[in-house]
Parts: sequence; structure tokens; C-alpha cells
Amino acid sequence: MTVVQWTEAMSVGVEALDNDHKRLIHMINGLHYSDAGFIELFNALLDYTNSHFEREETHLETIGYPGLASHRTQHDAFADKVSAMLKEYRENGFADTDQRVADFLWTWLKGHILIEDQKYAAWSKARHTL
Ligand SMILES: [Fe+2]
Repeated sequence: MTVVQWTEAMSVGVEALDNDHKRLIHMINGLHYSDAGFIELFNALLDYTNSHFEREETHLETIGYPGLASHRTQHDAFADKVSAMLKEYRENGFADTDQRVADFLWTWLKGHILIEDQKYAAWSKARHTL
């Protein structure tokens, strides 16, 4: 079931990073606790998220984005929270009706891509149009 779709409003103006975001959205849409392969999908999401964060941070370094440190802090906090949920899932599992993971992922992802990532996109655009 598709919950969220990537839209142009989410574009950060860098094709590779937009593609990362599309893929992250696609991966979260495909995540269901009741699936036998949940843990593999969740692990894959965590790996992909970490590699995306690295790509994004490298881009921000390259363009000299002044908000990089706080952006990185947000990425780290997200990765920590997801790791903690993975640990909890491994230890106790989650009920099918438990929406915490999905709610957290969507709230964070939408807020991050639509607000925080748009800040560097706007900064970069303004710098190039000076
Ligand atoms: Fe980001």
C-alpha cells in the first residue's frame, strides 16, 4: 500500500539525492511488520538510509552548506532512533497494529525532506542565482 508519494515539492535539485529520497519512500511504503521478511526489509532500509545520509552530507560539504553540522546531527538522531526500534523489534517483535514505526518513519521523512532538505536546496539555489 502506497502511503506517501514523492512529489516535485520534495525535490532538492540534485537528481541523485532525489532518486535516493524516492527509493527511501518506496522502501518505507513496502514495510509491513506482518511480513515474514520484515527484519530484512527494515535492515535494508537502515543500510540505505545510512548510505543516503553519507551521500547527502558529502554533497553539503561540497557546496559549503553552512547548516551542515545541524543537518548531520538530525541524520544521526534519526539513525539512532531507527537502530533502537530495530533492537526492540528483535527482542519483542511488534504487534501488527503497532503503528509506531510507520508513524515515526513517515513523520520524520516528510518533515525532513520537505523542511530540512529544502533549506539546503533553497540555500544552494540562492547562491547560484546571485
Ligand atoms: Fe537530509
